Amino acid sequence: MPGFHLARQHPVHLSKVILFASLLVRVVSAEIWCGKNYREGQPVAPPQGVFPSSVQLQTPEFAFKCLPRVQPYLERDNCSSASVIVDTSLTSVHFRHSVPLPSESFVSLNAASSSTSLGLILTVGVEDHNTSYQNTEFDVKNLELPLSLCSLLPRREPYSITCTAKIRLFNGTTHTYNYTSSLLYLPTPGPGPGSVTKLDRKTGALMTHSGNDKFEPIFPIGFYTDFGYLASNLTILDEIKSQGFNMIHPVPPFHNEVTLDAVLHRLDEIGLFLVYDMRHSYQDLTSIAQEVKSIMNHRSLLLWYTADEPDGPGDPLDATQAAYNLIYSLDGYHPVSAALNCADYYFEEYASGADIILPDVYMIGNNVNFSLKYNTPCTKDFGCCGCDNCQGHFDDISNRLDKTIEKLGLLGWDSTKFIWAVPQAFGGEEFWTRVPTGREWLLQALLSINHKARGIMPWIDPTPKDIKRYASRLAQLLPQLTPFFFGDDVKFSRVKFPYLDVGTWRKGRKSLIIATNLNPESANSDLRVDGQNKVDWILQEGVSLSITGHIIFEPMGSAIFLNSIVEDEPLGHVHDEF
Ligand SMILES: *[C@@H]1O[C@H](CO)[C@@H](O)[C@H](O)[C@H]1NC(C)=O
Ligand SMILES: *[C@@H]1O[C@H](CO)[C@@H](O)[C@H](O)[C@H]1NC(C)=O
Ligand SMILES: *[C@@H]1O[C@H](CO)[C@@H](O)[C@H](O)[C@H]1NC(C)=O
Ligand SMILES: *[C@@H]1O[C@H](CO)[C@@H](O)[C@H](O)[C@H]1NC(C)=O
Ligand SMILES: *[C@@H]1O[C@H](CO)[C@@H](O)[C@H](O)[C@H]1NC(C)=O
Ligand SMILES: *[C@@H]1O[C@H](CO)[C@@H](O)[C@H](O)[C@H]1NC(C)=O
Repeated sequence: MPGFHLARQHPVHLSKVILFASLLVRVVSAEIWCGKNYREGQPVAPPQGVFPSSVQLQTPEFAFKCLPRVQPYLERDNCSSASVIVDTSLTSVHFRHSVPLPSESFVSLNAASSSTSLGLILTVGVEDHNTSYQNTEFDVKNLELPLSLCSLLPRREPYSITCTAKIRLFNGTTHTYNYTSSLLYLPTPGPGPGSVTKLDRKTGALMTHSGNDKFEPIFPIGFYTDFGYLASNLTILDEIKSQGFNMIHPVPPFHNEVTLDAVLHRLDEIGLFLVYDMRHSYQDLTSIAQEVKSIMNHRSLLLWYTADEPDGPGDPLDATQAAYNLIYSLDGYHPVSAALNCADYYFEEYASGADIILPDVYMIGNNVNFSLKYNTPCTKDFGCCGCDNCQGHFDDISNRLDKTIEKLGLLGWDSTKFIWAVPQAFGGEEFWTRVPTGREWLLQALLSINHKARGIMPWIDPTPKDIKRYASRLAQLLPQLTPFFFGDDVKFSRVKFPYLDVGTWRKGRKSLIIATNLNPESANSDLRVDGQNKVDWILQEGVSLSITGHIIFEPMGSAIFLNSIVEDEPLGHVHDEF
């Protein structure tokens, strides 16, 4: 997080001791943040590394992807129940994985797209085994097809999967397209207690298991937490667990091995998941290798965390990818995460090295247009105000998450990389004059969930009691919400009114609704939900029900509720008034 970013431009071969010292004195030597100059007197130079804007096509292309649904599959899994997920579409926007159709053919495709004469044959092949599916649907997202692993031997090395899409035009000509991806089918881990975290690419859920039970989706929620604070009193870990959090992210430096071991041992014991942070060492492959080997057998390990805001100071562009490859070569049983701070700075390069990307957008209590710290304005081309290219509104958070999802989509990474949120839970330092209130914290978290965050990891504990209380409340509710977030048969939709952000997860005859009012002051917002009598409240924060059956939101109020469907429309007429 930017509060500490000035320490991060030091080359990583510096010892932890020196890094720690520089955190305290805030040594300033970086010339850029997010590719921009930010010191008084420096020239304005537009940042490099801007993500290319999407290309509108004159003639449509064929976008085709095919990936193992779960990473990794394990020896002990039922070898007949693995699957691939397939996306096929004709697109008028170019994706990294979309390819032109032969120019003469798209006319007939267009003509045939609604007719039954357009055929699609999908073939999924791994090693020598191909399975063909005739006349599969054309415009599909996440079509799930079985993939048998029964003839494969589990091994550390990835298998390669080749999928072929054969499009048959109505006059009989065919065009063939391939997509190759890798499949992890790993031996049972061991020795040691061990743990495995799977990533379900259909839902974006991490999957964990307790004991030998089957894997279940988990919505991870837990704070970045100061290591010194934890190490001072191990009972804090029990308290965090009892508050409902399911994971913790201790922030290095980790003092010494004995203290680290004591903390990790306690996590293993009480069943609180660990995000293991290598921010200071992730560019040092020797150090990564040592850390991965010593940590990977901990039962509590959920996720690796490499770079913390590498895009801020502009770490080497291949650094996250190099760390990622090494971690997978040594482990492979746990996904890799990294936090990105910039709105638009070499996204592809930095994101390439993570399965979970955490955009951290801190817009509370800072002037996002003028930096008091550096006495300069902040613009698209210059300055550092603690929130890159922000407007100072809550929309900064949802816009950043949406943009991140959009970039992942264009790169063809939307089924392999997922985002988590980093709600602001600090302030009164550097750019941020105050801490968020508990209600503001909740708003950030719920808004992020509506915008596809699959985990919540606020910066930073110790945090004010007010924030902790709200976070704990949400953590305790999550087990009720998770089946909606990660259900196989759930339809998600989102409606945005000027201020109300409303997400709906519909599962059978029930809908989960999360709504939050981004208006920080004055007017109340008002949401009408049909089937009023069917509303089951899960959380009401600054929200009440009027006698006319409207839900009234105070500024920054939030609601979570279930709505049973009477007719076909879940939210027949949702509207808001000001
Ligand atoms: C394995 O999966 C297949 C396909 O889903 C299922 O038919 C079979 O019953 C499963 N076997 C076991 C032992 O669970
Ligand atoms: C089928 O249609 C395509 C595109 O119009 C054309 O290139 C091809 O020659 C046709 N093939 C036959 C067998 O008519
Ligand atoms: C599987 O499909 C690939 C690609 O279409 C092909 O080259 C290969 O011969 C097929 N293998 C078998 C055993 O059918
Ligand atoms: C698709 O894969 C098959 C078999 O691997 C190969 O023979 C063929 O040339 C590939 N086609 C394309 C368009 O890459
Ligand atoms: C250790 O932390 C627990 C939980 O916060 C607290 O109840 C206890 O008083 C602390 N002990 C000491 C010695 O500070
Ligand atoms: C910052 O500037 C933007 C664009 O000029 C404006 O929309 C926004 O309200 C300003 N924010 C603050 C906190 O002054």
